[in-house]
Amino acid sequence: VTSERSEAIERLRPWVERARSFSGWDLSDVTPRDLEPGPPWDYEALAEELLRKAGTAVDMGTGGGELASRLSAYAHGRFVATEEWVVNAPLAARRLRPLGVDVIHSRSLQLPLKSGSVDLVLNRHEELEPSDVARVLAAGGTLLTQQIGGDNWQEVHDHFPRMNDFSWVFPTYVEQLKSGGLDVTAEQHSWRVAHRSLGEMVYMLAITPWHLPEFELERDIDALLEFEEAQTIREGLVVTHSRDLIKATKR
Ligand SMILES: C[S@@+](CC[C@H](N)C(=O)[O-])C[C@H]1O[C@@H](n2cnc3c(N)ncnc32)[C@H](O)[C@@H]1O
Repeated sequence: VTSERSEAIERLRPWVERARSFSGWDLSDVTPRDLEPGPPWDYEALAEELLRKAGTAVDMGTGGGELASRLSAYAHGRFVATEEWVVNAPLAARRLRPLGVDVIHSRSLQLPLKSGSVDLVLNRHEELEPSDVARVLAAGGTLLTQQIGGDNWQEVHDHFPRMNDFSWVFPTYVEQLKSGGLDVTAEQHSWRVAHRSLGEMVYMLAITPWHLPEFELERDIDALLEFEEAQTIREGLVVTHSRDLIKATKR
């Protein structure tokens, strides 16, 4: 058992090392394979459509600005991005400034933007404060956000009781946006995906420290191996993906 543990730690360590130097937000080389159909909506296409009509738009928590750089082609008015993480803010600025998109290094829960000044708030997988988003929106303005759903990675939760639970996010955002006087439409979708290996999942956990606090290979190896044993099928390591889509318009 001891050698099995230490072999597993050695097998997984390169993924933790690689996660240490992660910056930006490009996960294309660790994206799992869908075993079931993904969401019926296309967030990026919806964002493009809304940008065509928006005067002033903001992309919250832009990461390294990867998505915003593609979206900037559809913006005809002022387009700004916010980024909270000190590692990514300068990266995003370097990518987006040449495209005419200013990057603001700021918190997401309190946007440094004037009340009623924004026609479109875009937010993919970033936290937000519903009342603050409602504040910055102009009349007729729209929030489009895709969030990670409450049952995302539920199989990981099963093996790590200390993992943070974000199932409150969707109902809370919907309720608070509605009570803030916005017209809200919302959808949820969950589907199963397969990662190539446990290493990819270790990498994902290491680059998103808000999910599993104080994640450490040596300490967590037993739970990781139990998780792998329970979830591995011919296609790979199976987990649930879950996404929520919220569109809210200020009257
Ligand atoms: C899930 S990412 C989404 C990025 C972008 N909106 C997208 O959809 O591609 C959420 C945000 O968390 C930030 N972030 C990443 N690692 C972080 C860390 N260790 N501490 C704080 N924030 C981090 C990223 O820079 C990014 O802005």
